[in-house]
Amino acid sequence: MFELQDSIAIIKLNRPPVNSLGAALRQQIASDLEQAQAHKGVRAVVLIGSDKAFSAGADVSEFGTPLQRQEPILPTLLARIQDSSKPVVAAISGVALGGGLELAMACHGRVALESAKLGLPEITLGLIPGASGTQALPRLAGLSVAYTLMQSGVPQSARQLAESGLLDQVVATDLLQAAQAHATELANSNTPLPRVRERQLDAAAVQAFVNEQRSKLSPRQKLQPAYTALLDALLAASGDWASGLARERALFLKLQSGLPAQALRYQFFAERQASKLPASLQAEPRPVHTVAVIGAGTMGAGIAICALDAGLSVLLLEQDDAALQRGQQRVNDHYQSRVTAGKMKAAVAAAAQARLTPTTDWAQLKRADLVIEAVFEDIGVKQAVFQQIDTHARAGAVLATNTSYLDVDAIAGVTQRPQDVLGLHFFSPANVMKLLEVVCGAKTSADVLATGMALGKTLKKLPVLSGNAFGFIGNRIYNAYRQQCEFMLEDGAWPEDVDNALQGFGFAMGPFAVADLSGLDIAWRMRKAQAATRDPRERYVAILDHLCEAGRLGRKTDAGYYTYKDGRQVKTTDALVRQTIEQASAQRGITRRSLVPEEIQRRALLAMVNEAALLLSEGIASRASDIDVVLVQGYGFPRWQGGPVFWARQQDRTVLEHDLQSLAAEAGYGYVRADLSTLLKVDES
Ligand code: 3HC
Ligand code: NAI
Repeated sequence: MFELQDSIAIIKLNRPPVNSLGAALRQQIASDLEQAQAHKGVRAVVLIGSDKAFSAGADVSEFGTPLQRQEPILPTLLARIQDSSKPVVAAISGVALGGGLELAMACHGRVALESAKLGLPEITLGLIPGASGTQALPRLAGLSVAYTLMQSGVPQSARQLAESGLLDQVVATDLLQAAQAHATELANSNTPLPRVRERQLDAAAVQAFVNEQRSKLSPRQKLQPAYTALLDALLAASGDWASGLARERALFLKLQSGLPAQALRYQFFAERQASKLPASLQAEPRPVHTVAVIGAGTMGAGIAICALDAGLSVLLLEQDDAALQRGQQRVNDHYQSRVTAGKMKAAVAAAAQARLTPTTDWAQLKRADLVIEAVFEDIGVKQAVFQQIDTHARAGAVLATNTSYLDVDAIAGVTQRPQDVLGLHFFSPANVMKLLEVVCGAKTSADVLATGMALGKTLKKLPVLSGNAFGFIGNRIYNAYRQQCEFMLEDGAWPEDVDNALQGFGFAMGPFAVADLSGLDIAWRMRKAQAATRDPRERYVAILDHLCEAGRLGRKTDAGYYTYKDGRQVKTTDALVRQTIEQASAQRGITRRSLVPEEIQRRALLAMVNEAALLLSEGIASRASDIDVVLVQGYGFPRWQGGPVFWARQQDRTVLEHDLQSLAAEAGYGYVRADLSTLLKVDES
């Protein structure tokens, strides 16, 4: 029931946490509206949400269920609002996203708090707006603003959109009063109510705009049907409202049942699930206000920046003044460039920098609630650093290592407090990448783990729990993938065949281009370290080692798997690389054959699936969907393909088992073939 204030019916949207427009809320709005229409004392209506959300849009968990089809469905509700003879004004605070913004656009007026965030993020779910967004937004805000919001999926603040035509008024405070005043004004006016459906766009301008944007779609966008569908829907906005709506709805429903949208919805929920610890591990996190970062290299500086951005105080500790100065310079350069690019206000940057204390004095560590070590990837160096940390950190401080591969227990073991130690594996660049693997050692206590997860959220990261195993979740799967790609080189493919096939699947870059970018010497060093323990009966591809011996370390030496001219990759590999690969094939007695893209994609994915199943059975990953989150967030796995687990679940089981068997046979001695049963089980919590 609405509340009546000075002849205005206030309809409050009250479905925490984000007012998603599930069947019950749609029904409530419809019946409140109907009562307001019938009530003689009501002259106008205001729709208002909570501080956090006007509405986050359609209830994604209803998609594909009967509830989504339960009347009033969103288009029905929105049509009733537009039809209303009494003015309806949206009072927008928090977020108005997707169907939430569409709801606001169906109203006759819109007033927003300047901090409110408005957007149509459907594209991030593999969809287009499906309840008039593609038709209403260009009519209100123009083609360019509308397309930017819909194609990027990134919301903008009401402050940014104040002049776009979307909003009638943007206020700093007193939202409800402003909305009531606007509603009264509309009720007092003698002119017909402003209804978005009555606006007309210039058909020729729409067509020209759509043609231009179509030609600008990137190869990755063309792999995702929503991008083309968005332009098709926009084109329909050149005609009348009713046919535009029908076209949009048909496109929306087709996308919604397709695999990319299913994969993206799965990712949406998997990400939220990943950041929650399983019930058995839940505990109260320890408070963290001051973080110490040890080692101010590439990673240390990046970690320091994200902690500063999150409002924490940061102690940056290095081994000598010169290294410290270089580290501090990295942090300063970052803030300088943000300010110069207009992405951060100078005062905000200055405040962040003021929270940074650079030092070479270990005694300062006692101030830290949490210490993150990011020194060289060497067990001896790390153990020495942890002994120092143990000496100086206060009792109860959480101690973390950013190691990529090393054994967290071997590091924790040199301290007197292994229960306080965990791994916090950031990805590079640490201030950009959202993924954070939170690694639980054998003795890590539950509240320390909870602190790691909570810190991840404070830093606006996506924390994912991992057990302590070589490479944790991500690097271990990536290694299996990369190894399979190397096998394919020996079998007959060239690096560009593999890279192109995997880009065709949707990876941003292929594995060999990635290897060149990160530097082949990182893998080379690790291979040398493992040489003594490697079983000679295992299939080992030495191509990378030979390239490194020839001084080809990747982009930084202008040659690796590929050569580089003026920093640009030459598309095909050169004679020396081909010769090295042919020699490797010959040594293994392989007659080279060409591999079609589908085979390359399938083998690379199967290798990931096998490793994912092993990680799950070993308890390194606690949920199958966590693995997909890691691969998508940290390794460029195309989000709209869902991740290796999602992919595996779409395959025919018999064929999958058969192909994995062949993969294991090809790999030969030492290859562990996983049992897929747990991985393929869809229902998990
Ligand atoms: N549907 C269903 N559940 C939703 C939801 C939605 N649209 N939006 C958020 N939720 C749920 C989350 O799953 C989470 O549930 P949990 O606590 O059980 O894990 C809870 O609400 C809180 O969400 P977050 O953890 O993400 O909270 P944040 O404060 O970090 O973020 C938010 C809030 C910015 C609203 C963010 O949740 C978000 O971006 N939501 C998605 C918005 C969206 O994509 N809307 C478009 C939907 S499609 C649509 O509207 C189609 C239409 O055109 C027909
Ligand atoms: P880096 O070489 O850029 O930086 C290491 C820093 O540690 C140097 O500035 C060095 O002076 C400092 N340092 C070394 N010994 C020290 C000591 N005893 N006390 C204080 N400072 C000391 O290395 P990078 O790339 O930043 O890597 C650091 C850690 O992060 C490694 O464990 C690495 O495996 C991990 N990592 C690296 C990623 C990357 O892409 N570079 C990604 C994820 C993790």
